[in-house]
Amino acid sequence: MKQPIHIAVTGAAGQISYSLLFRLAAGDFLGKDQPIILHLLEISPALPALQGVVMELQDCASPILHGVIITDDPKIAFKDVDYAFLVGARPRSADMERKDLLQVNAAIFSVQGKALNEVANRTVKVLVVGNPANTNALIALSNAPDLKPENFSCMTRLDHNRALSQLAEKCDVLVTEVKNVIIWGNHSGTQYPDIQHAKVKDQGALSLVDHNWFENTFIPTVQQRGATVIKARGLSSAASAANAAVDHMRSWVVGTSEGEWVSMGIYSDGSYGIEPGLMYSYPVTISNGKVSIVQGLDINDFSRQKMQLTETELKEERSAIKHLLS
Ligand code: NAD
Ligand code: LMR
Repeated sequence: MKQPIHIAVTGAAGQISYSLLFRLAAGDFLGKDQPIILHLLEISPALPALQGVVMELQDCASPILHGVIITDDPKIAFKDVDYAFLVGARPRSADMERKDLLQVNAAIFSVQGKALNEVANRTVKVLVVGNPANTNALIALSNAPDLKPENFSCMTRLDHNRALSQLAEKCDVLVTEVKNVIIWGNHSGTQYPDIQHAKVKDQGALSLVDHNWFENTFIPTVQQRGATVIKARGLSSAASAANAAVDHMRSWVVGTSEGEWVSMGIYSDGSYGIEPGLMYSYPVTISNGKVSIVQGLDINDFSRQKMQLTETELKEERSAIKHLLS
């Protein structure tokens, strides 16, 4: 019998978690033979609702769910965890500016970074989902000096999956026949969804679709997909976000296939001229848990300009919360 693996999920009573927790308990992340213990973190007022979610988890009678800890204390939630899904964050209300959201959520991620630093397993893999995800991840890692930047990542896999799906639909092929799209930069409207290196049934994507569609339909559709879902549903994407979180973490553990890459927000090492020390989404390959940026891709002027635009936004976000960076 395998030993249970400890997984923390924050914002556990929220909408993304309402999908994510059940995917974890079904074995979609680590497999159907790997026991898990869930450490669920919420703010105190949400603990009663979280109790209800836990009742439902119990009612699934999952053979791999060997325990559930619920708490409003990050140091209990992150104690000895191997994986942490940082989903909990306050969503923007109508009266809030983006910079207000940055300030409120930034404080959450500095507390959680410190707690991870103190009590998490030293090999913990952290995924930040809560928005603004890239900058929240930067705050968490800079408050965790005893962990490495490589312990931290932020989620652009939902954007990556959106890009795969849009391109597959346009080319009338299966999603599995599309490879190597890239999301560069921030998980925001400035992200650059790039198909210049993508393959559709082993042919270059840009030999199959025209540049006008790429520039004026594909890019804005992927950039604005989150907002479009919010408009249609009245709530932000939840099941697809949970699915992307599982995909992201599973790729980190299982690795990427030969010749294929995925997009992941990671600590920039300066690759492609991006300022080192930003959490920037790159195309990556993964082997034995080690994430490597895909090197040597040709970047034309069109791409360079878009990659820099999203980099500039990340620098601005970083300067708005610089008092929280240690
Ligand atoms: P939600 O409001 O339904 O749930 C968020 C939960 O977090 C709430 O239950 C809240 O009580 C909890 N929370 C707030 N502060 C907390 C704290 N300090 N510790 C623990 N829990 C805390 O929101 P949701 O729809 O589940 O979305 C969660 C976040 O994910 C939002 O920031 C959303 O914008 C973001 N998101 C990111 C992506 C992405 O691709 N990166 C995609 C979708 C949503
Ligand atoms: C998404 O991409 O669906 C979320 O980040 C929600 C948003 O604000 O766009």
